[in-house]
Amino acid sequence: MRFFATLLGLCVATGPVAAQVAPVVTESGVSAHPFDINQVSLTSSRFMANQNRTLSYLKFVDTNRLLYNFRLNHKLSTSGAIANGGWDAPDFPFRTHMQGHFLTAWAQCYAQLGDTVCRDRATSFVAELIKCQNNNKAAGFATGYLSGFPESEFAKLENGTLSNGNVPYYAIHKTLAGLLDVYRWIGDTNAKTVLLAFAGWVDTRTSKLSYDQMQKVMQTEFGGMNEVLADIYHQTGDKKWLTAAQRFDHAAIFDPLASNQDTLDGLHANTQVPKWIGAAREFKATGTSKYRDIAKNAWAFTVNAHSYAIGGNSQAEHFHAPNAISTWLTNDTAEGCNTYNMLKLTRELFTMNPTDATYFDFYERALINHMLGQQNPATDHGHITYFTSLNPGGHRGLGPAWGGGTWSTDYDSHWCCQGTGIETNTKMQDSIYFYDDSSLYVNLFTPSKLNWKARSVTIIQSTTFPASDTTSLTVIGGDSWAMKIRIPSWTSGATITVNGVTQSITTTPGSYATLSRTWASGDVVIVKLPMKLRVIPANDNKSVAALAFGPTVLCGDYGSTTLSANPKLDLNTVKRSGTTGLAFAGTADGKPVNIGPFYDAQGFNYAVYWAVSGSLPA
Ligand SMILES: *[C@@H]1O[C@H](CO)[C@@H](O)[C@H](O)[C@H]1NC(C)=O
Ligand SMILES: *[C@@H]1O[C@H](CO)[C@@H](O)[C@H](O)[C@H]1NC(C)=O
Ligand SMILES: *[C@@H]1O[C@H](CO)[C@@H](O)[C@H](O)[C@H]1NC(C)=O
Ligand SMILES: *[C@@H]1O[C@H](CO)[C@@H](O)[C@H](O)[C@H]1NC(C)=O
Repeated sequence: MRFFATLLGLCVATGPVAAQVAPVVTESGVSAHPFDINQVSLTSSRFMANQNRTLSYLKFVDTNRLLYNFRLNHKLSTSGAIANGGWDAPDFPFRTHMQGHFLTAWAQCYAQLGDTVCRDRATSFVAELIKCQNNNKAAGFATGYLSGFPESEFAKLENGTLSNGNVPYYAIHKTLAGLLDVYRWIGDTNAKTVLLAFAGWVDTRTSKLSYDQMQKVMQTEFGGMNEVLADIYHQTGDKKWLTAAQRFDHAAIFDPLASNQDTLDGLHANTQVPKWIGAAREFKATGTSKYRDIAKNAWAFTVNAHSYAIGGNSQAEHFHAPNAISTWLTNDTAEGCNTYNMLKLTRELFTMNPTDATYFDFYERALINHMLGQQNPATDHGHITYFTSLNPGGHRGLGPAWGGGTWSTDYDSHWCCQGTGIETNTKMQDSIYFYDDSSLYVNLFTPSKLNWKARSVTIIQSTTFPASDTTSLTVIGGDSWAMKIRIPSWTSGATITVNGVTQSITTTPGSYATLSRTWASGDVVIVKLPMKLRVIPANDNKSVAALAFGPTVLCGDYGSTTLSANPKLDLNTVKRSGTTGLAFAGTADGKPVNIGPFYDAQGFNYAVYWAVSGSLPA
C-alpha cells in the first residue's frame, strides 16, 4: 500500500517502511466491506476543518505528560514531566484510559494522510510502553500488565472490594485497541508485541475465573473487551483470543436483547454499546446468529426508542424508558461517546445487510447533527463537549463543570468523550464508501477522494452537502460495476444524471439507487436529493418537536437570552431566508427568531426542541 500511495504522491514518509497489516480471518455473514482507511481521504469541507483542528492537537500534545502515569506505575522515571489533570490525574481511578485513543488517532492520521509526525508519535509512544511493560517484575506486576494504576485494582474487582469508581477493564480496553490500531494501520511490530503480551495477561487472568465470577466482574463497566479480543482474533487467526473475547459475553445484557426485549431503561448507556459492537464482531468471527440478533436488536431499540433528533442518546449517561424523549431535555443529554460507539455499531450492521438504507440514514443523522458540532470551531485544538445539551437555551461550551458542557482542555480534562472525539475527528472519511464484488456503495455525501485500488478506479466526490442538495461523483478509470447510491428517507424526487443525462432508475427514499454501467474515465454522476423543511416530533409528545431541513437538524439562535421552557413555535411562520443555504427564520413565543444548522450552534444559547403548533408552509 505504501508503494502505491507513494506513486500517487500522497505520502511523504521518509522513515522506516511500514505497511498496513490485513486481518487473516475471513468474516462470516458480511456482504459489503469498508475500504482500508488509507484508500479514502477528505477534501476541503467542514469535516476536513474538524480533522485539521484535531490533527494540530495530536501533534501538539506533550507525550511525556501522557506517559507520566504509565512510568510512575511501572516504577520508571517520569522524565521530569508534569502530571496531567482531569481524568488522567495521578489519583484519578481510571487514569491512562485516554492514551489508547491517542494511539488510535495517530495511527488513523498516518494511515489516511501519510502524516509521519503522527506515525512517529505512535511508534515512539509504543517504544516507551514496552519499557514500562518490561519493568513489571520490578514493579511487582505479572507479565504483560500495562496500565497507569496498579494490578491490584483487578484483584479488588474480582473479590468485590473495588470501591473508588474505577473501571479497570474499560481503561485497558482503550490501550489494547490503540495498540492494535498502531499495529494494523502502521505495521509497527513493537505494537504487536506489547499488544499480545497484554492480551495474554487478560487471557491468563480471566481464564482462572468461573463463569459466575466473570459475570460478576462484568457488573462494572468494561468497555469493548469482547470487541478488541475478537478483533485480535480476526487479525491473527489464533482462536485463543476468540475464547477470551467470549468470556466477556455479558449474559444479563445479551440474553434479553437476543430475545428482542428492550430492557435498557435505567442502564448506563455507554457501558452497553461497546458490548453490542463486540457481539457484532463475535458474529463475524463465529457466524452464531445470537450475536447478530443482539447487535441488530440493540441498534433498533436505541435508534428508534432512545435517541433524540440529533441521533444522540442518554440523559445523565443513562437510558430511560422507551420513547421518553420530551421529558428528558436537559443539559446532560447525548453523551458524545455513545454516538461514537453507535456509529461503529452501525458500520458493523450495514456490512451484514447493505440493502437496508436505515443504517446510513442514522449514520448521517448522528454524524452531522451530533458529532460534527460537538467540536469547538473557534480554537485550533479541536476541543469538544462531553454532553450535547438539549435543554432550552443550551450553550455548547458553557455549563456546570464537565457535566454540563464546558469545552475540553489540552491537559486538564481527558474525559472519555475527549478520547472518542479525537478518534471521530480523524476518521470522518471512513464510512463514506463501501464495496462488494460488483458494486460501490455511496453512503455519505462528503467531499472526498476514493482510491479504489482493487479496480484501479478513483472517485472524486464534490459537494457542499448538507448546505446544498447536490453531489457530484467523477469516476476516473473504466470497468463495469454498479454504483449504489443511498437515497435518504428524508428526500423525495431524487434524480441521478450521468454526463448530464437523466437515468431512468428507481430512487425510492430509504433505499439504494443502482446505477449499473460500463464506466468511461471522466464520467460524472450528479445526484440531486431535494430537501425540505420537516418536523421531527419527540416519540412521546407530538407537540414537542425539532425542525430539520433535509438531514440537518436546525435550532433557534437565542444569543445570550436564557430560556425556561421549549419556545412556542408557530410552524406556519418558518421560512427560508433566501433560496439557498440553511438560514431560516420564524416566530416563537411571539418574537422573531433566526433558525440555522445545529452543527453551527457554537457561541450562543440555542433551542433544538420547540413546543410546536400549526403546520409548516407547503
Ligand atoms: C486542512 O489542512 C490542510 C493542510 O494544512 C489545508 O490544505 C486545508 O486547506 C485545510 N482544510 C480546511 C477545510 O481547513
Ligand atoms: C481483595 O483484593 C485486594 C487487592 O489485592 C486485597 O487488598 C484485599 O485484601 C482483597 N479482599 C478480599 C476480601 O479478599
Ligand atoms: C444548564 O446549562 C446552562 C448553561 O447552558 C446553565 O446556565 C444552567 O444553570 C444549567 N442548568 C442546570 C439545571 O444545571
Ligand atoms: C406535550 O407538550 C406540550 C408542549 O410543551 C405540553 O403543553 C403538553 O402538556 C405535553 N403533553 C404531555 C402529555 O405531556
